[in-house]
Amino acid sequence: MSNIILLGPPGAGKGTQARKLVEGRGMVQLSTGDMLREAKTSGTEMGKRVAEVMDRGELVTDEIVIGLIEEKLVAGGGSGFIFDGFPRTLPQADALGRLLARMGQKLDAVIEMRVDDAALVRRITGRFTCGQCGEVYHDETKPTQVEGTCDVCGSHDLKRRADDNEDSLKTRLMEYYKKTSPLIGYYYHAGDLFTIDGLAEIDAVAAAIAGILDQQH
Ligand code: AP5
Ligand code: MG
Repeated sequence: MSNIILLGPPGAGKGTQARKLVEGRGMVQLSTGDMLREAKTSGTEMGKRVAEVMDRGELVTDEIVIGLIEEKLVAGGGSGFIFDGFPRTLPQADALGRLLARMGQKLDAVIEMRVDDAALVRRITGRFTCGQCGEVYHDETKPTQVEGTCDVCGSHDLKRRADDNEDSLKTRLMEYYKKTSPLIGYYYHAGDLFTIDGLAEIDAVAAAIAGILDQQH
């Protein structure tokens, strides 16, 4: 069993790779972005509070996301958890360490996916996802086989995210460099950090991640 963090800026490919690990290894994906988008559409008080913050590309409070993760950890992790988009700040990283320790578990690897900013902009502005099964596509690098139809589940519910525009993306990148990139040093010092080339093709990135996972016991 391995618990891993996929760490990288918006568009690095965290969600794409997490889905492959769920399918291939039976791991459980914990994406705070997906949880918050779900809360946004649920009409709850919390959903309303986070919607504007997310659409602007800012981070929501540590308290909210730590609470979401805590709930999911208790539900169990199959053959391991993939933390996708969490932690994003030093207090979140500390909280994750405490939560795992309380469950008698630990972090096995933090995989930093490195991608340059120009490629991130191309990836984010071309992304769309299936509203039914969550499959992630791209206008150029991963179009659907039949236009307007999801390859995986056949749905026509293909969507673009409200924060996938140039203004919000600029803010998301700033937030990443200011608040999240310090985690690279944090996990390097803890001895958990592995860095991979996120610019490689999707299958090559998946192979690099598999290589790291296979080194863990
Ligand atoms: P979140 O949903 O986590 O967004 P993000 O971090 O900005 O990352 P993305 O989902 O945009 O990118 P990704 O790395 O998953 O890339 P993907 O695989 O889709 O967070 C959204 C918001 O929620 C935040 O801004 C914040 O407001 C809030 N939030 C979430 N977590 C929080 C937290 N912990 N604390 C506070 N606030 C939080 O790929 C992108 C595109 O590239 C796709 O089209 C894909 O097909 C393509 N692609 C992927 N890999 C490759 C490849 N190797 N080659 C070519 N194309 C590729
Ligand atoms: Mg994602």
